[in-house]
Amino acid sequence: MALIRGFIASSLDGRVADAGGGVEWLAPFRKVDPGYGAFIDLVGTVVMGRATYDQIPSLGMGWPYAGKRGFVVTSRRGDPVQRGVRFWREGLPALVDRLRDLDDGDAWVVGGAGLLAAFAEQGALDRLSLLIAPVLLGEGPPLFPARAGPPRGLVLRGTAALAMGVVRLDYELLPIKAGRGRGRAAGVSGDGAEA
Ligand SMILES: NC(=O)c1ccc[n+]([C@@H]2O[C@H](COP(=O)([O-])OP(=O)(O)OC[C@H]3O[C@@H](n4cnc5c(N)ncnc54)[C@H](OP(=O)(O)O)[C@@H]3O)[C@@H](O)[C@H]2O)c1
Repeated sequence: MALIRGFIASSLDGRVADAGGGVEWLAPFRKVDPGYGAFIDLVGTVVMGRATYDQIPSLGMGWPYAGKRGFVVTSRRGDPVQRGVRFWREGLPALVDRLRDLDDGDAWVVGGAGLLAAFAEQGALDRLSLLIAPVLLGEGPPLFPARAGPPRGLVLRGTAALAMGVVRLDYELLPIKAGRGRGRAAGVSGDGAEA
């Protein structure tokens, strides 16, 4: 069964893009090795929202996930130009079922942050790796959009201080427990101990 993973870069003030939706602010950090090679080797399938997909041509590098199956979550019609990529219009629960059935590597929810949060809300995000760059953007889409869902517990599984002040944090998301109220976070841990 495939795990569903997030691996996403954020500014220190929790923005995944600048006010215009761009990620040029990440360009100076491209020379930092965040362990992407080892991460992508785990992944057989990438999942992204339509806006993230539509942004790819502007990056000037073609399809960046060679050899990986792709799902683009969208409500709109159209055909993806990339072979092996499918537009997914059947909703997230059915997509989660589809991803769980895969046996050729894990699934990476590339973004945006709202899509990542939607997976987490469904209890369908198993691991989250954050790359925090030492930049304050002030504006832009937030890493964790405001949600009405219950508090979630995460277990810190790893940390790495990388070059140029970038920090990597690796979390495991605990299963959502039925019946938890909003007043208490289940299993929140900063030291890797299961709660
Ligand atoms: N920092 C990073 O590592 C990183 C990584 C990825 C993306 N980003 C940034 O994130 C931004 C894009 O994120 P975004 O949140 O604006 O857009 P997005 O998630 O990439 O795309 C939004 C679109 O995807 C579809 N969608 C997303 N979530 C859905 C859901 N739960 N159910 C059904 N459809 C859903 C909808 O398409 P339809 O409108 O077709 O229905 C929606 O309009 C860009 O600025 C990009 O640069 C940053």
